[in-house]
Amino acid sequence: MLGHLKQALSASIGKKAWMAVSGLLLVGFLVTHLAGNLLYFADDDGSIFNAYAEALSSNPLLPIAELILATLFLAHIALGVRVSMENRAAREVPYHAKAAHGGRTTASRSMMITGLIVLIFLIIHILDFRLDPKAHDDMAGAVQAKLSSGRGALTYGVGVAALGLHLSHAIASAFHTLGLNHPKYDSILQTAGRGLAVVIALGFLAFPIYIYFSGGAA
Ligand code: HEM
Repeated sequence: MLGHLKQALSASIGKKAWMAVSGLLLVGFLVTHLAGNLLYFADDDGSIFNAYAEALSSNPLLPIAELILATLFLAHIALGVRVSMENRAAREVPYHAKAAHGGRTTASRSMMITGLIVLIFLIIHILDFRLDPKAHDDMAGAVQAKLSSGRGALTYGVGVAALGLHLSHAIASAFHTLGLNHPKYDSILQTAGRGLAVVIALGFLAFPIYIYFSGGAA
């Protein structure tokens, strides 16, 4: 059983499928994270957002959710690096590149770059809020303090823009990898994938833009 699983996981197509599944689950996290974050705009003093952050951090199931989330991120990154390295190796042998693996495209190259920027952003972001004990006393105040500075707004702006570019290719591509597509609907799938990427990116971008230019509402 484990042998089969290992084989499936290590086959190139298996890795791509796991990358697609983990990526789509991460998109699910992003949508809920964005929805929760939008509570920041629900009032003027940040008390609704703070109550939400408090409810999250006191939930006894949080450690389990965080473990699942961390596993998804780490698996997605490790698989992405492996698949990209295999594609690069395949390109050095032109026949194989054509026959089995598919060459390295501009899209796959830019996925590595945007993915790396998102990873750096994520580390900074977790240190800013999740791992800063002071932030938990007043999460809305911490978000406002961080994003009202030029450096903070720029860091979040660049991180979220890279996320948008990453997702604009990734969402439709994940459905393709999992075979959840049909030639007839390819262009609809691509437009829907890009549309969702734009909604997510603009939603997150609203924070650095609004807070920087208003000096912070909460
Ligand atoms: C730019 C707008 C964003 C804002 C204002 C924001 C805000 C926050 C805040 C306040 C927390 C701490 C929650 C808590 O500990 O109670 C948090 C956690 C987190 N954020 Fe964001 N976030 C943003 C964008 C993102 C993006 C784009 C990603 C992913 C690429 C992301 C991933 C995470 C993760 C993984 C956590 C830790 C979750 C946990 O451990 O519970 N965030 N965010």
